[in-house]
Amino acid sequence: MRNHYCGHLNESLIDQNVILCGWVNRRRDHGGVIFIDLRDREGLAQVVFEPEAAEIFAMAERVRNEYVLRIQGTVRHRPEGTVNPELATGQVEVVCQHIEILNAAETPPFQLDDSNVSEEIRLRYRYIDLRRPEMQARLQLRAKIITLLRHFLDEQGFLDIETPMLTKATPEGARDYLVPSRTHPGQFFALPQSPQLFKQLLMMSGMERYYQVVRCFRDEDLRADRQPEFTQLDIEMSFIDETTIKNVMESMIRRLFKEVLNEDLPNPFPSMSYEESMRRFGTDKPDLRIPLELTDVNDLMADVEFNVFAKPAKDPDGRVAALCVPNGKALSRKQIDDYTGFVGIYGAKGLAYIKVNDITAGRKGLQSPILKFLPDQAIEGILERTKADTGSLIFFGADKAKIVNEALGALRLKIGNDLKLVQKGWKPLWVVDYPMFEWDEKEKRWASLHHPFTAPNVPDIATLEANPKTCLSRAYDMVLNGNEIGGGSIRIHRPDMQSAAFRVLGIGEEEAQEKFGFLLEALQYGCPPHGGIAFGLDRLAMLMSGASSIRDVIAFPKTQTASCLLTSAPSTASQAQLRELHIRLRTQGTPST
Ligand code: AMO
Ligand code: AMP
Repeated sequence: MRNHYCGHLNESLIDQNVILCGWVNRRRDHGGVIFIDLRDREGLAQVVFEPEAAEIFAMAERVRNEYVLRIQGTVRHRPEGTVNPELATGQVEVVCQHIEILNAAETPPFQLDDSNVSEEIRLRYRYIDLRRPEMQARLQLRAKIITLLRHFLDEQGFLDIETPMLTKATPEGARDYLVPSRTHPGQFFALPQSPQLFKQLLMMSGMERYYQVVRCFRDEDLRADRQPEFTQLDIEMSFIDETTIKNVMESMIRRLFKEVLNEDLPNPFPSMSYEESMRRFGTDKPDLRIPLELTDVNDLMADVEFNVFAKPAKDPDGRVAALCVPNGKALSRKQIDDYTGFVGIYGAKGLAYIKVNDITAGRKGLQSPILKFLPDQAIEGILERTKADTGSLIFFGADKAKIVNEALGALRLKIGNDLKLVQKGWKPLWVVDYPMFEWDEKEKRWASLHHPFTAPNVPDIATLEANPKTCLSRAYDMVLNGNEIGGGSIRIHRPDMQSAAFRVLGIGEEEAQEKFGFLLEALQYGCPPHGGIAFGLDRLAMLMSGASSIRDVIAFPKTQTASCLLTSAPSTASQAQLRELHIRLRTQGTPST
């Protein structure tokens, strides 16, 4: 139907006859001449209708925004003074000789160039939203990223292998989406939270190097970087250790950034232990572009008369930490109050601070509601350790370590953004040496920090079972500018170690057999040492395209409440479907309401 894309027109086509197809971006009537900006995937072209060609002109007059047209015409230079340097095709225009209206369009619910349209409306009419050049560019970039990654992995000998979508629960820490089975009344498939166990089985099958661009399903609370269905680049390798897989993955990400954004990422990526990351940044996905750090002051506070600080300072699970903001003195009382409210979201009960008006004036140079509680020695220690100077503002968090880390970690990000301290560029990081388990206070048992198939960094089973609290794992996460973009580990490849890990997690023999019997069995038939990783492709595409939510790089995303505004999914089942499910659940003896 066409022989050129609108967005590809240029001066090399002058005097040539072109056929274009696309949507009417805008129509302008200019004293007897009509201009139509015709839009397709590649960009805009200006089409001119002159009144001499009466029939064509009359057609052009009928045309409205978002009509679908086929245009035939001759390319010419735009007259002097009308060249548009902002537009790729701004040197030329097409004089229309033939116009065909392929389809009319209702007035769209929003103007494509209106940047104030609510996300609700954008998602409700997603097919129109996706016509916007910004969204087109994002989806094109996403496609390019996936192509390049596939190409790299193919070159490195990885096999693209599909794994089932209708399967058994895979524990990645979220709830499962269940699918009732028709042929097995009362029984359910789970949609995979990840292909974790299948990719491990593929290593046992001798596939050596596997990858898959795969949809994963997790019924969890949503945020800007989380969707109930999202895409992983899932990878697994046999006969490797951490060094090999991290090297291959780093080269892949470096190549990706070079080819797509012409950015040089560091070689090698820096690496940091989980412990150091929590201590310095309060999180295991630190944004290293922000030059602010937390400082431990537990030892300085253990004996002060201020119980708010002394108690957590003495508590083995407590933490007292300082966050020093250079030039933070300029923050107003109101801003400090707002930050106090902000850390409250994370459970912090207050936000003490010290303003340094004059570092040379000792105690007199400081201003703080807690100064009276602190002896000189503690004050000197704080100033020295936080490297405070005249103009600094030091915030304090004191509570259980978890609360202090979350509160001050989030405050660090907020202040970094508010005070425009975020440096330009890309700061990748490996976070390693994770604890193997964390204590689940609600359930009163140990839980995996990654998943239960992650190998512990211990010489034998006895050491694992004796030290669940201190045992580290062989997991590694890739972090980029404060986002966890990938996570993986070396896996347990011996059945006895896997059973021991289940025991520590409080998964009894019977439950282990019921849920993971097939894995325990497979491990007995010759499992190679193996490990892997999975990247969040949506997050990578979000970061690389500069979008602020993964919803902006997913063609048809769900809302914060996991619904689709376009199709109105989820929706109720039909009476017949419900009746069938009801009968099946009754057969199983489960309450049907
Ligand atoms: P993990 O659970 O860390 O590991 O997931 C891997 C990566 O997937 C992305 N991700 C998400 N992206 C969007 N929405 C979500 N709800 C979501 N959840 C996770 C993140 C994350 O780093 N099987 C293991 C991998 C392995 O061990 O090989 C796994 O799934 O970027
Ligand atoms: P108060 O004695 O409760 O008035 O607190 C004195 C100062 O300590 C105030 O600035 C509070 O915001 C702050 N504060 C109270 N509890 C905490 C806490 N858990 N962590 C940090 N600062 C706190």
